[in-house]
Amino acid sequence: MKVYFIGAGPGASDLITVRGANILARTPLILYAGSLVSRDILAYASSDAQVVNTANLNLDEQEAYYRDASEQNRDVARIHSGDPGIYGALAEQMRRLDELGIAYETVPGVSSFTAAAAQIQSELTKPEVSQTIILTRTSGRASAVPTKESLTSLAKHRSTLCVFLSGGNLRSVVDELATSYPPETPVALVRSVSWPEETCHRSTLGNLLNEIEPSQWRLTTLLLIGDVLTTERAPESKLYSRDYAHRYRKASREAI
Ligand SMILES: C[S@@+](CC[C@H](N)C(=O)[O-])C[C@H]1O[C@@H](n2cnc3c(N)ncnc32)[C@H](O)[C@@H]1O
Repeated sequence: MKVYFIGAGPGASDLITVRGANILARTPLILYAGSLVSRDILAYASSDAQVVNTANLNLDEQEAYYRDASEQNRDVARIHSGDPGIYGALAEQMRRLDELGIAYETVPGVSSFTAAAAQIQSELTKPEVSQTIILTRTSGRASAVPTKESLTSLAKHRSTLCVFLSGGNLRSVVDELATSYPPETPVALVRSVSWPEETCHRSTLGNLLNEIEPSQWRLTTLLLIGDVLTTERAPESKLYSRDYAHRYRKASREAI
């Protein structure tokens, strides 16, 4: 018996991995985070699988499902939104399973921040612009952010930065980012990526709050910021340059 933590991806059911879908198809008990995971994902499940929405369950109640499944020797698929390892409340489940002696495996998923980059057709790392992506959030009722990771301190790097779980704090997020990023820095506010109601607003840090109504961006919203989001041409990577040789490719003759 095993518990599989499966990343469902950001919303669209065809963004789950093949491995995740195959495991879902053969697992008799499926626990899914109904607040963020689309029910469409259940189309991969067997018709006689037991399906439980964890949105209404506390950790003890979820543990009870794991314990019962273990006694009945039934595998469990626990579906998380995006990638389970990012703001997935995964560690506490793993700890409970360790205590119960239940084996588990994680199947990674497409995180919402990579889906957002795809949606806005931007690379998040560009040569000489930014080679670093910071994933962060603001403190919420369920989890506090350590003070050493305050948005103002992270903003000092002026790298590409993706702010999760902060749609309700957009004004303070913008204020904190503005302590280091210049007002002309491009931003993209993306909501419900890959869901039918997907919405995106591109702007600059200085103009964003004049152009949107923050209350409409409270839930399932990501804010991306950084110079990589500009549509202006950045220097090209050397990787595909004619005069750049590496293990798999010689430099072209004319370039030598
Ligand atoms: C509990 S976290 C889960 C993150 C998830 N594990 C991931 O890798 O994307 C939920 C937050 O992720 C972001 N998020 C998740 N799905 C999203 C989507 N489809 N579009 C935009 N943001 C999303 C939002 O910031 C949301 O508040």
